[in-house]
Amino acid sequence: MAKKKKDGILPFVLGVIAILILGWWIFPHIIFSEQEQPVHFNHDQHMNLEEQELKCRDCHFFRNDGTFNGRPDNELCAGSGCHDEMQTETAAESKLVNQYLEKNRTIPWKSYQKQPDNVYFSHIYHKKFDCSSCHLDLGYSEKLPSYHENRITGYSKQTMKMHECERCHAQEGASNACFICHK
Ligand code: HEC
Ligand code: HEC
Ligand code: HEC
Ligand code: HEC
Repeated sequence: MAKKKKDGILPFVLGVIAILILGWWIFPHIIFSEQEQPVHFNHDQHMNLEEQELKCRDCHFFRNDGTFNGRPDNELCAGSGCHDEMQTETAAESKLVNQYLEKNRTIPWKSYQKQPDNVYFSHIYHKKFDCSSCHLDLGYSEKLPSYHENRITGYSKQTMKMHECERCHAQEGASNACFICHK
């Protein structure tokens, strides 16, 4: 009797373990491809320069027409006192200067928040909120985290989901009509 009971439990336990491994480890690895950012950008270092006090908005700012300059372009990075000359001896800076700035190639950053094409989003309506209410908290990070791209849809794993947008809109009394976010 006792033996029979044990036989019944062991395959069950093994099955549960196999499913957990499949669900937590293998499945995410099949769906998402893990990619590194093109340049190892260190926010913390840039926020703690001795010569120059930088603010977030020096790189992430609104243009005069209200559009958002998501990230610094080559011209800004190469500005005087910045990477017009090498500032460090790091591999990351050398890659930035030699492979992008000098050849004037655009850095192919991956946006963790990239939304599907059918979603309309504009930063200007959201300027009173902290970046980290929607983004990963990267302002003082030393290394940009890996980017996880969904192999089927091509979108980022970290993208804010519709219910998260709607939850804040409901709390703040902003509209949740479909056409607000889907044009
Ligand atoms: C010297 C320029 C610079 C400064 C100053 C700077 N950043 Fe960045 N930031 C970057 C670059 C370059 C990236 C990489 C672009 C990317 O991830 O698409 C980035 C990426 C980000 C992202 C990720 C956006 C996304 O989802 O892809 C967030 C959030 C962010 N910065 C917040 C901040 C905050 C908050 C501060 C101030 C505490 C700050 N940054 C200061 C240059 C800067
Ligand atoms: C209310 C949510 C929200 C807030 C607050 C917010 N963002 Fe974003 N951000 C987004 C979304 C959504 C996208 C993706 C837009 C798309 O792909 O169409 C995005 C895209 C970006 C990108 C990628 C480049 C671009 O312009 O598409 C950067 C860089 C970025 N945000 C930085 C910041 C920084 C820095 C702050 C704070 C000053 C901030 N964001 C505040 C939601 C937000
Ligand atoms: C942290 C809160 C918050 C989050 C998260 C948020 N929103 Fe908003 N959004 C607002 C508020 C508040 C307004 C109204 C701003 C105003 O009227 O000045 C707004 C306005 C908008 C508007 C303009 C509405 C109009 O009147 O035309 C669009 C479009 C929009 N949000 C899209 C999005 C999308 C897409 C997301 C998710 C990716 C999102 N929002 C996430 C708070 C948020
Ligand atoms: C506040 C912004 C917002 C509003 C309002 C909104 N959506 Fe979305 N919707 C999104 C975002 C962001 C995504 C992409 C992320 C995701 O798939 O969750 C999305 C994705 C979708 C998708 C793609 C399906 C999926 O899950 O991939 C459909 C369909 C959709 N929305 C329909 C609607 C309809 C219908 C309404 C009105 C009842 C509506 N949405 C209102 C932001 C919004």
